Amino acid sequence: MSKQREHWGSRFGFILAAAGSAVGLGNIWKFPYITGENGGGLFVLIYLFCIAIVGIPIMIAEIIIGRSSQKSPVGAFAALAGKNSNWKYVGWLGVFSGFIILSYYSVVAGWALNYTFMSLSNFFDGKSPDEIGSIFGVMYGASGINLFWHAVFMMLVIGVVIAGVKSGIEKWNRILMPILILIFVVLAIISIFLSGWGDAVQFVFYPHFDALKPSGVLEALGHAFFTLSLGMGAMLTYGSYLKKSANVPKAAMLISVLDTGVALLACMVMFPIIFTYGYSPEAGPGLVFKTLPIIFSEIGDFGMFISFVFFLLLVFAALSSAVSLLEVVTSYFIDEKGWSRHKATLITGGAIFLFGIPSALAGSSALFPEWEGMYGKNFFDTFDYLASNWMLPLGGLFIAIYAGWVMDPALRKAEFTSGSKLTQSNIYIGWLFFLKFIAPVAVFLIILQRVGLIDIDALLR
Ligand code: TRP
Repeated sequence: MSKQREHWGSRFGFILAAAGSAVGLGNIWKFPYITGENGGGLFVLIYLFCIAIVGIPIMIAEIIIGRSSQKSPVGAFAALAGKNSNWKYVGWLGVFSGFIILSYYSVVAGWALNYTFMSLSNFFDGKSPDEIGSIFGVMYGASGINLFWHAVFMMLVIGVVIAGVKSGIEKWNRILMPILILIFVVLAIISIFLSGWGDAVQFVFYPHFDALKPSGVLEALGHAFFTLSLGMGAMLTYGSYLKKSANVPKAAMLISVLDTGVALLACMVMFPIIFTYGYSPEAGPGLVFKTLPIIFSEIGDFGMFISFVFFLLLVFAALSSAVSLLEVVTSYFIDEKGWSRHKATLITGGAIFLFGIPSALAGSSALFPEWEGMYGKNFFDTFDYLASNWMLPLGGLFIAIYAGWVMDPALRKAEFTSGSKLTQSNIYIGWLFFLKFIAPVAVFLIILQRVGLIDIDALLR
């Protein structure tokens, strides 16, 4: 198999695609609501800290593993560590995580599609806040509607991935990412004129020391993983389409800054609205779908337009992330099994759609009605929990250990410094320190807390 590996058209294309992967439902849907639940400022500060000391070092490691091997996760570990080494199971874990995450991610993205579509019909017109909020529940329990939008979203994802790295993933990210950032900046500027803006700034940027439980620190760390698309080889796979001339540390910095910028912008769009209209910042996962339309409805005629734009944005962000999830799974079959991109995308995308059906039907309990009684969570939440709390941190831990302790030091250094004019030796040593010691210890702590072996809240009380 001496087929030439596809590469990004430009370094900027890679950065946009990787940023597209990072910026997603995690930034716009999840970050504002967990910030609200964890009391604001201090949580945000700790999250920024986690991005800097754990996220960026592991992102550099993932990209380097991908670029040096020019392979997707399973092949990458086989190429670097040896065909029979157990490290390739880390690659397998990644493929498996991608499969699972996309299956339910697509369902949430389907809700965003549904709300985009509903906005066109001005669905909140003349309704009371309670009635608007209850629409979410109606949708959640409507099996056919969930299935329909899940299918539509998966078709969009397949459509992008099937066109390939440069003319599919890169092209669409070039179009979607700038629009996304532009619209967000416009919405954030509109928010400045709301009377609640001052309170929002205070809430998001001023550390309130009594509002955060120590376990919130672990939540911040776990979210840093999810939001930067780390721990399952998505960045590794994107890195494998990168040429040697790119400066990896600089790219990782830029991607992380963009990702964090959008998360903070999302807060600065949502919290001014929340404080202006006197809603609680602790509204939970329904924040985007239940609270925002209430506010859109109060804006008047213009509200329908803002609602449409906002949910479309959420769809774009979810699409560019979902594409990276599918690419990990698809590229395994392309690289390791020699399938054509066409065949690999259709089969893996189709399989993920099928596996997502019980998640799409979770709200109506139309399939597996006994699931929740048996496992304590419905199908959707079970797999979200498994992936975000187990598979990603474990994958991240192994990636940090591999790049920090096992990988050939000469290769690691050459990869880190290639593409930059400086030898960067101090920066290199600093990175290695974080990768070898800080990141593994931090991730290990999350895992211990999750298993229940330690209870940080009790320890630090
Ligand atoms: N980072 C995306 C978000 O914030 C989700 C995502 C895409 C992801 N690819 C990933 C998460 C790979 C973990 C691993 O919504």
